[in-house]
Amino acid sequence: ISLKSHNTFGLEAKTKLFTEVNSIVELQETLKTEEAQANPLLILGGGSNILLTQDFDGLTIKNTITGKSIIKETDDYVLVKVGAGEAWHDFVTYAIEQNWGGTENLSLIPGTVGAAPMQNIGAYGIELKEIFESLEAVNIETGEIETFNQDQCQFGYRESIFKKNLKGKYIIAHVTFRLTRKDHQLHIEYGAIKSTLEELKIKSPTIEDISNAVISIRKSKLPDPKEIGNSGSFFKNPTITKISFESLKVDHPEIPGYELPNNEVKVPAGWLIEKAGWKGYTNGNIGVHKKQALVLVNYGGGKGKDIWALAEEIQASVMKKFGIELHPEVNII
Ligand code: EPU
Repeated sequence: ISLKSHNTFGLEAKTKLFTEVNSIVELQETLKTEEAQANPLLILGGGSNILLTQDFDGLTIKNTITGKSIIKETDDYVLVKVGAGEAWHDFVTYAIEQNWGGTENLSLIPGTVGAAPMQNIGAYGIELKEIFESLEAVNIETGEIETFNQDQCQFGYRESIFKKNLKGKYIIAHVTFRLTRKDHQLHIEYGAIKSTLEELKIKSPTIEDISNAVISIRKSKLPDPKEIGNSGSFFKNPTITKISFESLKVDHPEIPGYELPNNEVKVPAGWLIEKAGWKGYTNGNIGVHKKQALVLVNYGGGKGKDIWALAEEIQASVMKKFGIELHPEVNII
């Protein structure tokens, strides 16, 4: 069974077995089957954060649990519980239509609601954890539903416990968000948002204005997976010590960096990759996006193993030029 339409890289890879689950009960039933017990499992949401480098000799479970329900509503906020299989951006659009604040900076991120906490998605000054209330996940071993609050998820930069200690142990079924109903806390400090709003002469933006600004910024830099296969940022932005940053500045005075606590600096991987000469590089059907060097692309018919080989070449060249190690953001299968 082909996974081509189930990964945003558009890579041709096969899975031995495939099933979709529409509810927690269906998921629990599936986990009890012999196919699930006897095979390795691959859990898929929107397939927007994986690189399939080979066929998968196991059972792929596509999570298609949908639905939105209000758990609690006050004058100030709403707790809304959303099925993991809902498309992330559809949920963002819905929240903005309801005038619920909090998701607007995360507009147009590919993938599903269930995948969002997995890697604590973030963009334009906001991370998922800031609007996260809790989630329900099914324990693969016991089939039981367990609830995880904010602390239990151990969110970090593109990290959560589901990518670390609990990797491969749970399937996220529902996520509950805490969104504002009034006095929205707007985040417009990100340079590109500010300048987009200024261009449009918007002085007091609504959450919809911010969402529209983010959509236009993303469209200008990031390839649409429907047109060019990709998985968003391929690498994480690396963190280095302030001392290393200062010494890199000697040779590269224009190097950008965001200061973090603990005398650390986060450096944009896109800049490092561009300076190492990779931006717009193409090799047959694959390459590095012309407008954002952090995004690897499949122009059609590319192979996952070739994209991985390219990623390794990029890692080696950034290491050689800057002495910085890049780590993939996408899950390599
Ligand atoms: N830059 C370059 N060359 C490039 C790309 C970027 O010089 O080819 C420089 C830019 O000029 C800028 C800096 O790098 O100074 C940052 O670039 P950008 O604002 O595009 O953001 P990013 O750090 O490359 C991160 C996230 C994105 C997110 C944006 C906006 C990671 C790994 N990526 O990218 O997330 O949309 O910030 O907040 O943290 C994703 O995770 O898939 C993703 C797209």
